[in-house]
Amino acid sequence: MYFPQYRPRRMRQSETLRGLVRENRLHPDSFVYPMFAIHGEDVRNPVASMPGVFQLSINHLVEEAREVAELGVKSVILFGIPEQKDEAASGAYDPEGIVQMATRALKQELPELTVMADVCLCEYMSHGHCGVVQGDKVLNDVSLELLANAAVSLAHAGIDVVAPSDMMDGRVGAIRSALDQEGHTELPIMSYSTKYASAFYGPFRDAAESPPAFGDRRSYQMDPANSDEGVREALIDIEEGADVVMVKPALPYLDLIYRLKTETHYPVAAYNVSGEYAMVKAAAEKGWIDEKAVVLETLLGIKRAGADIIITYHAKDAARWLAEESST
Ligand code: PBG
Repeated sequence: MYFPQYRPRRMRQSETLRGLVRENRLHPDSFVYPMFAIHGEDVRNPVASMPGVFQLSINHLVEEAREVAELGVKSVILFGIPEQKDEAASGAYDPEGIVQMATRALKQELPELTVMADVCLCEYMSHGHCGVVQGDKVLNDVSLELLANAAVSLAHAGIDVVAPSDMMDGRVGAIRSALDQEGHTELPIMSYSTKYASAFYGPFRDAAESPPAFGDRRSYQMDPANSDEGVREALIDIEEGADVVMVKPALPYLDLIYRLKTETHYPVAAYNVSGEYAMVKAAAEKGWIDEKAVVLETLLGIKRAGADIIITYHAKDAARWLAEESST
């Protein structure tokens, strides 16, 4: 009978042996928790398609962020739901805008927490597109100034990282030079460089109240069929001054995470988006999957693909489960 020289099972015999040869580990240091800030006094609106996620007024936002930090998750990324939307996205660069106010409150109450902000116009535009609209077109160059204004106003509010997600060409460069001109030379930009026009953003658009009123985002977000272009987008953003590049969504695009990691040599973030979260929560609610095991396997898969940073709505649960595992 033939016995192979090498038997992979030898090193799988015990948890200790498996631990010694384990190539990747999840740690809450990599996690960023997304949060939705809304005006009002005592608001905590559940998002129907994202169980466990809420639109939070600032008092609740601070409370929840404290809980996030206590679980060992050291960064959050903020999205805002403004009181009013218009055709110039005024709420995005209003010094009293919802994310600016939330940033000031969080930095005051939890100075150790790293507060990031999504920089986009869609939540603040009455038409819900990520740039200025003329007729049925989303204009590129005039949108850059508004995005730069938004980044600068968040910088003044004390934000720790800005994360442009609009997919206008040239926005990282425009934001970098506007920040530098205002003296914010040390503020990092995490660019949503490789962002696809995806059906997986559906639940987020409920949470952020930002679905486009007409058409879709395919004239600015990427075609899911393209891979080289995703790398190119990351390289362009790096040239324009991005400190971190991102792949979004995560699961259908693990190949892009790997390519960005190996081809750019820059830190890579992956956004485990709302639709990915909603699928897991729905199946778990039905009792069809083991939520904890599926979430940890999913996040580990994203890590293994090459992500340094994982933005995920599962961050709180995952941090709790990882702490439980390490204490047993
Ligand atoms: C804003 C933005 C979106 C998401 C992050 N920033 C929505 C979109 O592009 O339509 C999606 C996040 C998620 O689905 O969890 N442009």
